[in-house]
Amino acid sequence: MKAIQYSEHGTTDVMQYVDLPDPVAGPGQILVKLEAASVTPFDWKLRAGHLQNHFTLPMPSVPGRDGGGTVVAVGEDASEFQVGDRVAVMASVFAQGGYAEMIAVDEKNAVKIPERLSTVEAVALTNAGLSAWLSVQTAEVKSGEKVLVHSGAGAVGGLLIQLCHRLGAEVASTCRSTNRDYVKSLGADHVIAYDEEDFSGLLKDHDVVLDLMGGAVHDRSYQVLKRGGRLAWLVADPITDRGAEFGVTVTRVMVSDDKVALQAMMDLAGAGVIKPQVARTIPLSEAAEAHRLMEKGAVSRGRLILTI
Ligand SMILES: NC(=O)c1ccc[n+]([C@@H]2O[C@H](COP(=O)([O-])OP(=O)(O)OC[C@H]3O[C@@H](n4cnc5c(N)ncnc54)[C@H](OP(=O)(O)O)[C@@H]3O)[C@@H](O)[C@H]2O)c1
Repeated sequence: MKAIQYSEHGTTDVMQYVDLPDPVAGPGQILVKLEAASVTPFDWKLRAGHLQNHFTLPMPSVPGRDGGGTVVAVGEDASEFQVGDRVAVMASVFAQGGYAEMIAVDEKNAVKIPERLSTVEAVALTNAGLSAWLSVQTAEVKSGEKVLVHSGAGAVGGLLIQLCHRLGAEVASTCRSTNRDYVKSLGADHVIAYDEEDFSGLLKDHDVVLDLMGGAVHDRSYQVLKRGGRLAWLVADPITDRGAEFGVTVTRVMVSDDKVALQAMMDLAGAGVIKPQVARTIPLSEAAEAHRLMEKGAVSRGRLILTI
């Protein structure tokens, strides 16, 4: 099969389009012929070597935390899926990733794709959907609460806005000025353009902040929370925890390959309650260009997807 692989950390030059042996479905696994895979910020940061304090990658490595396609073989003791099923899969950091024509995964790392969704849409909902669902759960967002979602035009932020809106929260969100209307269309009640205004001077008494930025944005987010509020953050720029100073609870969102969470997102999208956001698609062979775009912040309004 064709796949993207790298043997050392570095610039996008380390990414090679190679031929590899087809994987085989082991016991409890399914073999999936992939049609699409997400390109996430995690992928390029891992490739560049920025996450070496957290993960020691076995090399060579095929990147990608998710994928979507059709089951072509079922391993011994696997009973949930049949050949021909369309599935979305979660790929472990330490196993082969989704930047490939095929992948073998444990059944517990796959869910069926609802009929209403294309495979590309389902993939836009996989790694980003897990991150959004687990963030909302961690922050325990409730109806009537005032919630600030940072980076509302991003893949995770766009899903967070939709989930919080659906839960009945009053949602404020940050994005660049050209994305105001887009972010409003996802369900944000208030939009603050980070390239024109300072959210911390405009918002106050919020119950929850969902922080996808870290750094200076994290630091300023404490000012918009009321005492007793909650700040849930995803790993991005480093943060300084000022929870005690402001009387708020600060919690890191632990994103794991959680089948229940992924199933919940697929069910919501399958019912038309939330809509996956696809920024654009690029062929697998051009994955290095996809990383360059991500790295320079040129991907907006949803997930960048590799088509395979
Ligand atoms: N396991 C984890 O902890 C975990 C899991 C998932 C994601 N994350 C992290 O969460 C972040 C977002 O992920 P993603 O997949 O949604 O990324 P993404 O699709 O690339 O979105 C990033 C967004 O950040 C926005 N942005 C840039 N500067 C901003 C600022 N000063 N204020 C507010 N928004 C700003 C951009 O908005 P515009 O397009 O409007 O400019 C962009 O759309 C990444 O840092 C990622 O590493 C962590």
